[in-house]
Amino acid sequence: MQDPLVYLNGVFAPLSEAKIPVLDRGFIFGDGVYEVIPMYAGKLFRARQHMARLFRSLAAVSIANPHSEQEWMALIARVTSAYTADYAVSDQLVYMQVTRGVARRAHAFPKDAEPTVFIMTNAFTPPAAEVCDNGVACITVEDQRWLRCDIKSISLLGNVLAAQQAAEQGATEAIQFRDGFLTEGASSNVWVVKDGKLMGPPTNALILEGIRYGLIAELCAACNIPFEARRIARNDVFAADEVLLSSAGREVLPVVALDGQPVGNGKPGPVFRRLHAAYQDAKRA
Ligand SMILES: Cc1ncc(COP(=O)(O)O)c(C=O)c1O
Repeated sequence: MQDPLVYLNGVFAPLSEAKIPVLDRGFIFGDGVYEVIPMYAGKLFRARQHMARLFRSLAAVSIANPHSEQEWMALIARVTSAYTADYAVSDQLVYMQVTRGVARRAHAFPKDAEPTVFIMTNAFTPPAAEVCDNGVACITVEDQRWLRCDIKSISLLGNVLAAQQAAEQGATEAIQFRDGFLTEGASSNVWVVKDGKLMGPPTNALILEGIRYGLIAELCAACNIPFEARRIARNDVFAADEVLLSSAGREVLPVVALDGQPVGNGKPGPVFRRLHAAYQDAKRA
């Protein structure tokens, strides 16, 4: 097994040697936040936006940010360059996690805990061309998560259960609905195309604003694809010409089947193809 260098609380060490105390509040309560940044050819993609979201997540749960942006960048650079050197892989997915730290178990914040900071990276293989050519199947599920999905919290039980339902049905993603309206995937944002217009749910506390959310809005503007953020009813998802997913790891993917029914004509559509091409250009720019 690979044993890449990771960063944990001031120390760079092989992954197998990085250990946390069992009283870490991340372990006990899921009390922490995380971030995932894609890196292409050694260059982090949209790093500034990812760091801003990490800082927003930390502030939202009142964990003091342990590092300046410059310090974070230096820590990430050391982990990713070690991985590139050891494994000759310069497309990576960087994972960062901050928890409220180690303290005697009690729900309210401890007075003097130091945040636990962890950074690792893994090889990143974007979806294969045939996945983009054929599209993916998804299921729909009721959104059972809490009401602060805008925070990139490590408490992911609702997402985990939804993703497991999809996995058990051989689907790529579980698309969630709350009160009859589209929220997002278990680990992706979801987009709907009707009559040439791309629509996404509004960015409120019911979804995580993916870093690709803003990017897709920008790519739509550049490609002359009309874009609208609005509430999207379940019927509108099933009646869509195209449905797309986006996330750091999945980039942009076409959904061609929902609960076993074809989306549109059951093939990846023209809006997907234009956005996917624009995404490929943007990530290598
Ligand atoms: C619940 C959820 N929504 C949306 C996204 C997409 O965010 P991003 O584009 O920053 O990867 C993710 C990413 O993992 C996610 O977990």
